[in-house]
Amino acid sequence: IPVNPFDLVIFGATGDLARRKILPGLFHRFRVGQMPLESRIIGAARSNMSGDAFRDQVRAALEEFVAADQRPSDDLAAFLERLYYVQVDATGAAGWSELAQLLRPDMIQAFYLSVSPDLFGSIADQLSKRGIATPDTRIVVEKPFGRDLASAKALNADLLRSFDETQIYRIDHYLGKETVQNLMALRFANSLFEPLWNSTHIDHVQITVAEEIGVAGRGGYYDRSGAMRDMVQNHLMQLLCLIAMEPPARFEPNAVRDEKVKVIEALGAVTPDNIVRGQYRDWNGMSGYPEDAGAPDSRTESYVALKLAVANWRWAGTPFYLRTGKRLRTRASEIAVVFRDPPHMIFPPMEGRKGNALIIRLQPDEGITLRTTIKEPGPGGMRLKEVDMDMTFADALGSDLHSQDAYERLIMDVIRGDQTLFMRGDEVEAAWSWADPLIAAWEESPLRPVAYDAGGSGPEESLMLLHRDGRRWRAIGA
Ligand code: BG6
Repeated sequence: IPVNPFDLVIFGATGDLARRKILPGLFHRFRVGQMPLESRIIGAARSNMSGDAFRDQVRAALEEFVAADQRPSDDLAAFLERLYYVQVDATGAAGWSELAQLLRPDMIQAFYLSVSPDLFGSIADQLSKRGIATPDTRIVVEKPFGRDLASAKALNADLLRSFDETQIYRIDHYLGKETVQNLMALRFANSLFEPLWNSTHIDHVQITVAEEIGVAGRGGYYDRSGAMRDMVQNHLMQLLCLIAMEPPARFEPNAVRDEKVKVIEALGAVTPDNIVRGQYRDWNGMSGYPEDAGAPDSRTESYVALKLAVANWRWAGTPFYLRTGKRLRTRASEIAVVFRDPPHMIFPPMEGRKGNALIIRLQPDEGITLRTTIKEPGPGGMRLKEVDMDMTFADALGSDLHSQDAYERLIMDVIRGDQTLFMRGDEVEAAWSWADPLIAAWEESPLRPVAYDAGGSGPEESLMLLHRDGRRWRAIGA
């Protein structure tokens, strides 16, 4: 479905995110006819550059980040014609009136601030003070949205000085992933799971976001963040919310976000014995974190595992185990909902039984698996066996599956004015309120992260987090 024509201004249009994600995403939407021809994409940045030079840069980015068979030259040329460039000084006076002239009052107007967060406030101020923004203008911002509660509050205040919450779109790209949205469909469009979705039936939940890549190339940012700030406070928290939240009354931005905030607010304090922090070390020819990050004595964690309690009626007694790390054996993100054993077993005990589980594979190889117990075929009595009922989305849905990248969907949602998949200010603040004490306690402690081998499964200590409760992690990429 095409959206209405729009003017989208990208501040930081020559930056990495714009080149890798935003512009390729817009190009894909343009190609499928979702972006009307009258739309304009206006690059805004500090450099002095002509429109042609900007279009050349965008062409180069698309050639790098869009597969050759996905960019026929006619489409590429037509897309580049929709592009404009203005040199704007985010903190000064230059360029704003040129920008204002390019914008058309009767179009949807969105400003994507793909710049350092310290510039959010001044760009927002300029847009409003100079009368460029309208009451319908949309402002899009990216993580890192703060590095703690105080800085997140300051950023919220910076934006809210000039804009209303309903105009602010805070991106967590995990919410734009097809399979992440499928979590909501799975839970709230089926009657099968919801009656079992509580601590009476669910023994525990595992959320894993494992990455194969290390931090080489972005050590400067990463070493000041670590996995807690980079992944847990945002992406893993969002996954946890979608799994644990109550069914909202409507699929509507505030109804959904209200329920997510309640989950974050219900999180119990995490004691140090329920967190494991790791840092990868060189192994088998792969470099270690200190080399990759260019930080020899760094205490920054590239891996975190935690045991969390969601202290509410639905979840009391069902722990949530979360883990994420860089430089693990493979890239594999999944959520495993592990059910309790039947209350009374009438069959002979089964060695190595893992029990019923619903496994939602987020990436790669997206799909859902239901681990069930059946009778092993043949003679020999009631011998039991665990078998997976597997639905791999690529098989079930064919080519539709990869039709949209997370960014493409989210940018189009901005244009449509749908905030459901964006984080509300109080949600981000709640997540920092939860993360802050854990990060502060760590920063004050003399401990170092435990070492794990590059290309491995993470620290041994994280296995213990489950072993001591009589549980086990699923193998990464199983
Ligand atoms: C980003 C983090 O937000 O998410 C990166 O800053 C991480 O460190 C990335 O690699 C993971 O995203 P995805 O979509 O590849 O799972």
